[in-house]
Amino acid sequence: MSGFSPDWLALREPADVRARDPGLLAALATHLASRASRRDGMEVVDLGCGTGANMRTTAPLLGPVQSWTLVDHDPVLLEAAREALLGWADEASENGQSIALKKEGRVIGVRFRQADLMQDLEAVIGGRPDLVTASALFDLCSVDFIRRLARAVASERASFYTVLTYDGEQAWNPAHPADASMTAAFNAHQQIDKGFGSSAGPAAPEVLALAFREHAYNVLEASSPWRIDGRAGSSDQALINALADGFAAAVSEIGQVPSDIIADWLTVRRNGSVVGHTDTLALPP
Ligand SMILES: C[S@@+](CC[C@H](N)C(=O)[O-])C[C@H]1O[C@@H](n2cnc3c(N)ncnc32)[C@H](O)[C@@H]1O
Repeated sequence: MSGFSPDWLALREPADVRARDPGLLAALATHLASRASRRDGMEVVDLGCGTGANMRTTAPLLGPVQSWTLVDHDPVLLEAAREALLGWADEASENGQSIALKKEGRVIGVRFRQADLMQDLEAVIGGRPDLVTASALFDLCSVDFIRRLARAVASERASFYTVLTYDGEQAWNPAHPADASMTAAFNAHQQIDKGFGSSAGPAAPEVLALAFREHAYNVLEASSPWRIDGRAGSSDQALINALADGFAAAVSEIGQVPSDIIADWLTVRRNGSVVGHTDTLALPP
């Protein structure tokens, strides 16, 4: 339904974990620890949760009692998230739609919500969460949607933390003469409507920062590039191959680069790739 398969999300999860900026995550944890929670535990909403990768990396740094709502429009991914989190926890029990987990001394409740964020954003964020978070989502979203998001988060006076927003930078090793034109075409593809209106694509980090500053939020940013090792024997090999194939398919759809050049680009064996991302932390005034 969403175009993001559980297999692809599993392939990228280790690279995502490595890429995320630890300083920004620590700053989030410190900030949340310094504020009295609004209820018994910390309330967190994860937008476009996929299979729950963002929660698996963020929750171990947050407080002892947490309640997460994982939101996605794709029921297959929500089911995969449930399974993955049951496997990830030290202890787990199921309670209808929700699951109760224990992980590294933390008590974590999780509920799953199928919703289209374009339609239901305000309803999903309403309910006074302490934190609204997302991973690898906002380059898919339009400028208007991001501004709407900032308004909705600010009206709840929630903290906001997002990671791995694509910033348009790519470097492939070894280089190919068509790298620059391929990246330009890929970045044009990034701006196609993905269900939120024309996507902000590589401009998304800047749009996020501006949108939250308009609500007097304190915005901190850090770069979080994927550094993918494509050398023989590396555990990233399947990822770099899938990345190169997906990159070439997107470039081909845009039609700016001749197909024989794309085919030649694909013949180069890649030892590595760096893909630029930004993490953003926005704290309420
Ligand atoms: C790149 S994936 C990231 C998944 C996950 N956050 C991660 O980091 O692994 C983008 C996610 O956003 C979800 N998504 C895209 N458009 C959506 C929409 N309109 N409403 C809700 N979820 C959406 C997709 O189903 C997918 O799970």
